[in-house]
Amino acid sequence: MKCYNKAMQPTHKPYKKLVLVCTNCKEGEKCCSAGGSEPIRDALKAKVKALALPVRVSKTGCMGMCPTGPTVVIMPDDLWFGAVTMGDVDRIVDLLKESLASS
Ligand code: FES
Repeated sequence: MKCYNKAMQPTHKPYKKLVLVCTNCKEGEKCCSAGGSEPIRDALKAKVKALALPVRVSKTGCMGMCPTGPTVVIMPDDLWFGAVTMGDVDRIVDLLKESLASS
């Protein structure tokens, strides 16, 4: 294991928030992927990039909330969202902006 000191990396731009979007697929079962989580992740990623927010949007595996997916989590705020749709993307981005402004 290597330990990297971020202060030693002058080009390092740390993310202040992490958005996890479950894109897990369960054959024949309710899952986030079947609920359209991949386009949601893509839209979140595009909006965060367009606004140059210090936020990493990343896909993740199952977070145990399959029946209420698609699941999106904002960390370190520990904000969990279920049944997320494309219509929720702007609201999630607004929440990120509010959280960044208050931190
Ligand atoms: S498949 Fe997304 S939380 Fe389980």
